[in-house]
Amino acid sequence: MAMELTENALKVLEKRYFRKDENGVLIEDWDKMLTRVASNIASGDEEKTRRFYQLMDAGYFLPNSPTLMNAGGDLQQLSACFVLPIEDSMESIFETVKNAALIHKSGGGTGFSFSHLREANARVRSTNGVSSGPLSFLKVFNAATDAVKQGGTRRGANMAILNVDHPQILDFITCKENPAELTNFNISVGITEDFMQAVTNDDEYNLISPHTGAIYKKLKARDVFALIVKMAHKNGEPGIVFLDRLNNANPTPTLGKIESTNPCGEQPLLPYEACNLGSINLALLIKDGDVDWDKLKEVVRESIDFLDAVIDVSKFPLHQIETISQANRKIGLGVMGWADLLFQLKIPYASEEAVALAAKLMEFIDFYAKERSSELAQEKGAFPNFQESIYATGCLKREKINQPWDSLKEKIKKEGIRNATLTTIAPTGTISMIADTSSGIEPQFSLAYVKNVMDGEKLIYVNKYLQKALEEKGIYNNKLLDEILTRGSLAGIEGIPDDLKKVFQTAHDISPEWHIRMQAAFQKYTDNAVSKTINFPNSATVEDIQSAYELAYHLGCKGVTVYRDGSRESQVLYLGTQT
Ligand code: CDP
Repeated sequence: MAMELTENALKVLEKRYFRKDENGVLIEDWDKMLTRVASNIASGDEEKTRRFYQLMDAGYFLPNSPTLMNAGGDLQQLSACFVLPIEDSMESIFETVKNAALIHKSGGGTGFSFSHLREANARVRSTNGVSSGPLSFLKVFNAATDAVKQGGTRRGANMAILNVDHPQILDFITCKENPAELTNFNISVGITEDFMQAVTNDDEYNLISPHTGAIYKKLKARDVFALIVKMAHKNGEPGIVFLDRLNNANPTPTLGKIESTNPCGEQPLLPYEACNLGSINLALLIKDGDVDWDKLKEVVRESIDFLDAVIDVSKFPLHQIETISQANRKIGLGVMGWADLLFQLKIPYASEEAVALAAKLMEFIDFYAKERSSELAQEKGAFPNFQESIYATGCLKREKINQPWDSLKEKIKKEGIRNATLTTIAPTGTISMIADTSSGIEPQFSLAYVKNVMDGEKLIYVNKYLQKALEEKGIYNNKLLDEILTRGSLAGIEGIPDDLKKVFQTAHDISPEWHIRMQAAFQKYTDNAVSKTINFPNSATVEDIQSAYELAYHLGCKGVTVYRDGSRESQVLYLGTQT
């Protein structure tokens, strides 16, 4: 059965996804768009086209925006995520500025590590002058992104990472203190295990000059950590990313080190690697008061077939990207609608039950994704770098809760696997709007809101599962709706039964600890990383942020992004998606 498109979804689709002729007149609708995408990804195979069409039409799965926008078109650039290298030379820096511009033009986002660039005022031998340092080049990248206003698709988003031992780390930590600066970048500090150890022991640690390898200076780890926390408290940046953890999970360690992620942090990649993502809409996968496990398994298998096929029909923007992306065949299957699933199952987001279900569900998805990928390897061959990967060496780490991992690991070792990574939890900023569900694994931000439409008309949106639950109790009326609209949440509203208040929590009703525990539960069974914002009330202290960072570290998260209510007007990405 086809999913119903909301007015909001249709507006987004018409503005950015449906094809238009040269006069700007729409020549596509939902059916035509899905036909274009499905037949392109299926390489014309009729049976596969039908399957892929149905998977998307039912709303069970949507690929990342570039696939929906570009499949079957001239660009044929289908991936959302790229990482590009920046070496310590003018050639490399400006080559990467150019390459990033090409990627942005096609709707992809780029991440970079600036850690190889020598610090400002270091000697430059060829000119006998001094270097400008990573921060001034960061501004060049930012300006280039501004200039390439991705006509028709979306504005480029970037991630900049600087390792905590870079000589200019203090400048980097404060570089977005003014929110008008570097608006096309999210920034994250690359944290090492050694650094965290130094924080624990209250030791000093070394800043190392990338150019000479010499110790540049010593700093107290706790002072640096405190500055990161202070800035994040102020306006949410920088985030942190645990580099050693990214590399412990690197499926192809012999090919090099992972130094950066894509713009929203959920996809660590090797230099020049690209990855295409897709997400399953959990809100639709419910049966008899439980997750519809049989259907979910079927949807996982279909989604893996889809994402794997995307690689074969992708046109990559650079030769280097094509080579490594085809050799590793990374894909990232994730979820959206998690909060809406919990609403329907009447499980509070901030509960042991929800965290346990998160781990069980993600273990299930990850397991069947890998099983399917292994079957595809038998049919079509393993990813070309398989022999050098953790799958061949038996180093895939998976703790068993419910699934028979040992036998799957053996099967993969013997028979191969088609994709170096399978799972990623994306933000799903736009595709969750199309699917009319909560984004990624985030709680709902608000249960009801008013949207101004043309001619001063106002449209009221109420979470459909809340509306249903209130109607079932016979207490849904306009007065109540007004109150929910004013508050955005049920907290403090009289006349709503406690059981509903417990279940229908919003991001603000949920404490940072539960946000982090949820992120950690999903991370446990996700190859790549998890996009998640840890929300704090405006009144949160610097110490609260610090404890959250420490908890995320102890629970095995790969990175942390925090946001204190009211501390920033809007986030980079959403500026990008709304303009
Ligand atoms: O929902 P949609 O497929 O549009 O994207 P998302 O899940 O919100 O974001 C996935 C990834 O797409 C981000 O992490 C970025 O790498 C990229 N992206 C981008 O480059 N520019 C944007 N304006 C939005 C997303």
